[in-house]
Amino acid sequence: MGYGAVNSQRGRSRDVLVLGAGAAGLMAAIEAGRRGLRVTVLDHAERPGKKILISGGGRCNFTNIHCRPENFLSENPHFARSALAGFTPQDFLELVHRHRIPYHEKTLGQLFCDGSAQAILDLLLEECAAAGVEIELRQKVTAVGHGSGFTVETESDSFGSSAVIVATGGLSIPKMGATGLAYEIARQFGLRVVEPRPALVPLTLDGAARESWCDLAGVSAEVVASTGKQRFREKMLVTHRGLSGPAILQISSYWRQGETVEIDFAPGEPVYAGLLALSAGRHTAAAETALRQVLPQRLAERLLALDPPQGWSNRALEAAEQRLHRWPVVPSGTEGFDKAEVTAGGVATAELSAKTMEAKRVPGLYFIGEAVDVTGHLGGFNFQWAWASGAAAGRAV
Ligand code: FDA
Repeated sequence: MGYGAVNSQRGRSRDVLVLGAGAAGLMAAIEAGRRGLRVTVLDHAERPGKKILISGGGRCNFTNIHCRPENFLSENPHFARSALAGFTPQDFLELVHRHRIPYHEKTLGQLFCDGSAQAILDLLLEECAAAGVEIELRQKVTAVGHGSGFTVETESDSFGSSAVIVATGGLSIPKMGATGLAYEIARQFGLRVVEPRPALVPLTLDGAARESWCDLAGVSAEVVASTGKQRFREKMLVTHRGLSGPAILQISSYWRQGETVEIDFAPGEPVYAGLLALSAGRHTAAAETALRQVLPQRLAERLLALDPPQGWSNRALEAAEQRLHRWPVVPSGTEGFDKAEVTAGGVATAELSAKTMEAKRVPGLYFIGEAVDVTGHLGGFNFQWAWASGAAAGRAV
């Protein structure tokens, strides 16, 4: 499969230049190209859509059918509404059906390809080709200028256009080509950037906390992880350096340095209820048996070792029960951008039109996708934001 109409002609003027051939940039290019605009996508990578290919363990969790604005974090929680309503999971599914890509719902509305994520990239590249979009690879963008129109300089070429859509993503996974270009362009044009931070990222433990848990690396359990008002009931996985798994990745997007994460090790289960019955034996073995009903053995043993019930009175058992449901963990940090699935923060939504993604103060300049201060929960929401914000800009440009 080729990369649309890859063009070798240099330095010409286009209607629209899209910076970044990821999910958001390709979708914006398709929508703009379909409207008859002359569109070129520039990317420094040797191939487009690299993150699409590694996403969802290689099967791309390309959307979530339960997508709601509440599934996104942003300084302005309402900002994403308009774009999400303008291009819904159903709209993306129509493309998936048209390209006959087999898929399945894994859990919680998450849609994955049955086969490889390559199918989603092929869909986008075929739509780009049909819309007459040109894709120029190995074009590292170094500067964007603005006069009567825009000029975009790359390491080897110069391009002109009447509009620029910045879709160069965030800082997560630098070794896959992530750069802070979108933030640099925003700041150059006087637009505020919300401090980027790693999100959907494993949390690390140090000192006594690491000693308490990390030798159990590989053990997992369904928990509720919470901080503030945010709660996520999913799997937690102990790692060699701390905690991971979906529950922890989700809560990491909300967690700030120094805060406590509370773990409910037995969501909705009154673990010691059986021991409270008058006839029941009340001793460590009975407590362990009760814990093992709801948790893997090693985790049950560890919890009992770290916090044995302080006696066997009803009161002591109730207190132990409470602690099990609100176990405090203070992470030392996160695994950082190297391991973060996405970047939270980015170009401030207050600077952009929620309908079009155009910078309010710089007509013709648009920001979309992960570069913007809109971050989805785990489960296909980040791609849905990429499609929706890309479509909004591509239709408006
Ligand atoms: P994206 O990062 O995809 O694209 C930016 C493009 O800009 C890149 O092609 C890059 O090369 C280019 N670029 C950067 N700087 C440049 C420069 N200076 N000059 C030229 N080009 C430049 N989400 C989801 O919904 N479901 C999932 O299953 C997964 N799975 C997943 C797994 C892993 C391991 C990661 C790291 C991430 C995910 N995600 C995900 C998140 C998802 O991949 C992410 O939110 C989108 O790819 C963001 O799309 P964008 O187009 O905004 O940026």
